[in-house]
Amino acid sequence: MSRLVVVSNRVADPRRVAAGGLAVALGEALSSSGGLWFGWSGTVVERGAPDGQLHVQRAGNVTLATVDLGHDDHAAYYRGYANGVLWPVFHYRLDLANFDPGYIDGYRRVNRLFAHKLMPLLRPDDVIWVHDYHLIPLAAELRAMGCQQRIGFFLHTPLAPPLILAAIPGHEWLMRALFAYDLVGLQSQADMNHLARYLVTEAGAEQLGEGRFGAFNRQLRAAAFPIGIDVDGFIELGRGKEATETRANLREQYARRQLLVGVDRLDYSKGLPQRFRAFRTLLERYPENRHSATLIQVAAPSREDVDAYGDIRRELEGLCGAINGDFGDLDWMPIRYIHRTVARKRVPGLFAASRVALVTPLRDGMNLVAKEYIAAQDPADPGVLVLSRFAGAAEQLTEALLVNPYDTQATAEAIERALRMPLDERRLRHGRLLEEIRRHDVHWWRERFLSALSEGGPG
Ligand code: ADP
Ligand code: F6P
Repeated sequence: MSRLVVVSNRVADPRRVAAGGLAVALGEALSSSGGLWFGWSGTVVERGAPDGQLHVQRAGNVTLATVDLGHDDHAAYYRGYANGVLWPVFHYRLDLANFDPGYIDGYRRVNRLFAHKLMPLLRPDDVIWVHDYHLIPLAAELRAMGCQQRIGFFLHTPLAPPLILAAIPGHEWLMRALFAYDLVGLQSQADMNHLARYLVTEAGAEQLGEGRFGAFNRQLRAAAFPIGIDVDGFIELGRGKEATETRANLREQYARRQLLVGVDRLDYSKGLPQRFRAFRTLLERYPENRHSATLIQVAAPSREDVDAYGDIRRELEGLCGAINGDFGDLDWMPIRYIHRTVARKRVPGLFAASRVALVTPLRDGMNLVAKEYIAAQDPADPGVLVLSRFAGAAEQLTEALLVNPYDTQATAEAIERALRMPLDERRLRHGRLLEEIRRHDVHWWRERFLSALSEGGPG
């Protein structure tokens, strides 16, 4: 059997807690088969100190191989091109993109460095699976060094429509780099449609059949592979001591109240200010929720050295303070805002104690929190998922209450409906949602992608 080599910017010990869909999903996908996980060590070395140092360690059946990055490389590659250009553009936020011409060189340098460090670790029958927007040109760099193994790529973010992508200076080079892969996977059908239109209209590719494109003397296969969670693993986590304790404590504390929950990285794509405004509107328009409905919003610090992230934090703190100041009382605060990562073992307990989950991103590749919330519910008395129609998950989770997060009034109405939903309807919706996340879980995702990668001939 071939060895699986996973490459991603962020590498996490699969046995430890992580915030972020990629680290959680890859940890789960890799620990079932074992293999090599290669990426950035998380260390940025000071100017003048040697960079590119490789660290290899075992974590159960997975070998972790990670590389240190130099200060300037990290700034241009991670903060600059990946999170200052590609992240905002892929999330349709041209207004937040910083097209500094210096970034792209750093992005290329780090992709080349990764290829040089990875190449000697590869075996001839390895299957290589590269993840996310940080590493789009990695296969092209590996191919230039003679790498013949199969290489697949999966994009965890959304992919914007062609004319938005076309605003990236040098987008032709970036998208052409996709043709060095044997297979490209996207989160949703909407993303797949955008890629197909981009390739035909901007790259002059010929559509050779369903998900097959020809250009630059190569063929590219692409399809949607919506990522899932380890449903049974998450349910099991919910039976653990920490989760049970968390649920019991919250249930006791909020026995006479209705709990709503949001768990996110603090990212502008997650629609947190819009969510707080919708919650405020709920309290204004449906005053019976005052002294009762309480939103626990956990927002893990993320990419704080990128400007737009500091702005969103300040905005959120202002909104939260105003809502608590205007509506709070001696014995009740409408919002409990926690700027921290909650221990993963406690997350299912937090979800289980909450009557409603607010998962309302402005744009999201998939959103695993939505699926985790469903898995954590008691099927006999489940809570209700309020989900943005702009999350990739909305293509699958059609039994959630789907909302447009930009529409504050309509979102407030959906929250009110969720809080009042009768038990029969909650059960019916939850049953269907649970069935869906079980059918398309993280194991299905991994197997489906890897079998598609091994099926097709080389590009
Ligand atoms: P993204 O990949 O953009 O961060 P996802 O919803 O797909 O978003 O995945 C987030 C993952 O990280 C989930 O597994 C979620 O439980 C976890 N997570 C996110 N925020 C927190 C937090 N504040 N505390 C603990 N876990 C978190
Ligand atoms: O899932 C989207 C994603 O950008 C991953 O690629 C990333 O690992 C995660 O969110 C957390 O972001 P970061 O690695 O920048 O902390």
